[in-house]
Amino acid sequence: MPEIIAANHSTDALNRAIARLRAGELVAIPTETVYGLAADATNGEAVAKIFATKQRPSFNPLICHVDGVVMAQEYGKFGTVAERLANTFWPGPLTLVVPLRADSGIHDLVTAGLGSVGLRCPRGFSRQVISAFGRPLAAPSANRSGRISPTTAQHVAEEFSGEDLLILDAGACEAGLESTIVKIDGNRLYLLRPGVITAEEIAEVAGMPVELPPADGKVQAPGMMKSHYAPDAQVMLDCEACPDGAAWLGFGNRVKPENAATGLNLSETSNLVEAAANLYAYLKQLDESGASLICVSPVPQEELGIAINDRLRRAAAPRASKSGEAV
Ligand code: TXA
Ligand code: MG
Repeated sequence: MPEIIAANHSTDALNRAIARLRAGELVAIPTETVYGLAADATNGEAVAKIFATKQRPSFNPLICHVDGVVMAQEYGKFGTVAERLANTFWPGPLTLVVPLRADSGIHDLVTAGLGSVGLRCPRGFSRQVISAFGRPLAAPSANRSGRISPTTAQHVAEEFSGEDLLILDAGACEAGLESTIVKIDGNRLYLLRPGVITAEEIAEVAGMPVELPPADGKVQAPGMMKSHYAPDAQVMLDCEACPDGAAWLGFGNRVKPENAATGLNLSETSNLVEAAANLYAYLKQLDESGASLICVSPVPQEELGIAINDRLRRAAAPRASKSGEAV
């Protein structure tokens, strides 16, 4: 059974988390984006437990969470652009994929044997945990592979109800969507995953354009699978109406159709920040209502809406077959 303990300002929580991490165990940590399932990034056995617990394919690398630029530079090579981005946006929801340092000590399982490493400095209690631990924590979102990411400690407990897992509870996540991932490749910047920090904000600070990865697939986040963030129910996008008995996920002034069985609104005032924070919790709630279809009204493709639509498209994508290739 997972154990949930209150995280904020608690030395008891800190000490218990550190003891578990030192012992090579997993700890679920709150971040400003989503809850993470963390392990010592230098301990291969501990990292293997993340893959086993999440049922995550091992070719999909993990983000290393650091407490700041100094720790990050021990593990990844930072040029001036990477440094500027880190200094501007950290702590915060930006992951930088940079070349891995030789003998970094980061276990190969974390980087999936790639020559690069994804680094990010989270806001909040998890940063304190990393500082006290003194080493990076490898942490994917704390959900089973392919499923909805957790934005509360209770979501994590439900997802891993059979596991002996310590969960640090710092309440609902502020942003509710995973970090933006940018890869720094020579003198180019690629957007591997849209997120809370927009490509425009990044380009402005970097003083160079943020490009979409080339179509040949050579530059990408291996984890950006077509079907992801998926509830049990089917998801249909850009709906103005819905079939009888479906669940309804509205945005702005799109009210719930009368024939919908149940409905929620991501943000009645069309506030994209509020919509992002509600997205995963509402998808989960509608899924748990038992409806077999969730109809989602359109979300504008601008600012944070780009990241929200990215997640919704993956939630709506055809699922992998049971024996299937992707998870
Ligand atoms: O907000 C977040 O980023 C959350 C919190 C917990 O920090 N973490 C998160 O991790 O979303 P995860 O594992 O669900 O997604 C990490 C993504 C995957 O798509 C993975 O392929 C990509 O980051 N990634 C990690 N290291 C990479 C690398 N070296 N090169 C390319 N992509 C990488
Ligand atoms: Mg994830």
